[in-house]
Amino acid sequence: MPNLQSILVNGASGQLGQSFQQLAAHYPQYEFVFADRASFDLAQDSSIEAYFQQHSFDLIINCAAYTAVDRAEDELELADAINHLAVAKLASIAVKQQVKFIHISTDYVFNGEQFRPYIETDKVDPQSVYGATKLAGEQAVFKTMPLDALIIRTSWVYSPFANNFVKTMLKLGGQRDTLTVIFDQLGSPTYAPDLAETIMQLVTHQSFNQQGITTQLYHYSNEGVCSWYDFAKAIFELSSIDCEVLPIETKDYPTAAIRPHYSLLNKAKIKQQFALKIPYWKDSLIHCLAALKET
Ligand SMILES: NC(=O)c1ccc[n+]([C@@H]2O[C@H](COP(=O)([O-])OP(=O)(O)OC[C@H]3O[C@@H](n4cnc5c(N)ncnc54)[C@H](OP(=O)(O)O)[C@@H]3O)[C@@H](O)[C@H]2O)c1
Repeated sequence: MPNLQSILVNGASGQLGQSFQQLAAHYPQYEFVFADRASFDLAQDSSIEAYFQQHSFDLIINCAAYTAVDRAEDELELADAINHLAVAKLASIAVKQQVKFIHISTDYVFNGEQFRPYIETDKVDPQSVYGATKLAGEQAVFKTMPLDALIIRTSWVYSPFANNFVKTMLKLGGQRDTLTVIFDQLGSPTYAPDLAETIMQLVTHQSFNQQGITTQLYHYSNEGVCSWYDFAKAIFELSSIDCEVLPIETKDYPTAAIRPHYSLLNKAKIKQQFALKIPYWKDSLIHCLAALKET
């Protein structure tokens, strides 16, 4: 297979999709095409079909997903259509068109009962509709596309774009004197621009540019570990926002979907295979806050 030339990024208006839009100029050797809901609707098989009858690329990067974790508990069918059935469809199109596929998944495939960072082969046991539909999406990729696909599980994604925890904290911190934030869920934040850059390092890697590579699963987040409480504290300290953060337990903040108490991802596999250096979460948070200041 010749080196990749054209890349479709769908979910272009989401956090990761917008991070790719910002990054594209640094990779002039590729022709990037960005697709959003108006290009094709992942909830409709016929819409996906119609789009790919007209278009073909060397690589599809699927950044789109149904990410409303709590709403998914009431919208199982829609979440499954987008996170599972559409992913199976995209993978089958990639096979038919003989192109590569990169898909993003989540730490919510785990039950969070473990106390050492999760490796790719650890037992999955999603506790929410979102986690279950994302897992079904992963399994569909492996079944449909045993070759030429990559799946990257990530966690706690934030960025200067769309909606996320950092932007919510900045807004609430400016309005209130105190905030209560959960301290008994541990994980690692992922700065979406770091993930986009990492994906491009994989894409440009010589091993990815061979035909017939075995489909692989990788874990990726920023380095380090924190609770949502620590994350909120860091956001306020680094932004000089005078808002007191009070730690609360998960049971004191009931949500429709169950979230893992512990979802730290072990990144040894991706780091070793691609000689990656991953930024520490607080260093990336500083970048995000600086980018938000500029907007
Ligand atoms: N956010 C997190 O904390 C987190 C954690 C772990 C893993 N992940 C995974 O990381 C990936 C990127 O997440 P993100 O935070 O960038 O997500 P995001 O900001 O919520 O963006 C999701 C994108 O999917 C698009 N989308 C949703 N339904 C669609 C449909 N029916 N047809 C076409 N497009 C549709 C949305 O379009 P609209 O803008 O039109 O709605 C949006 O652009 C996803 O696979 C997600 O599951 C995220």
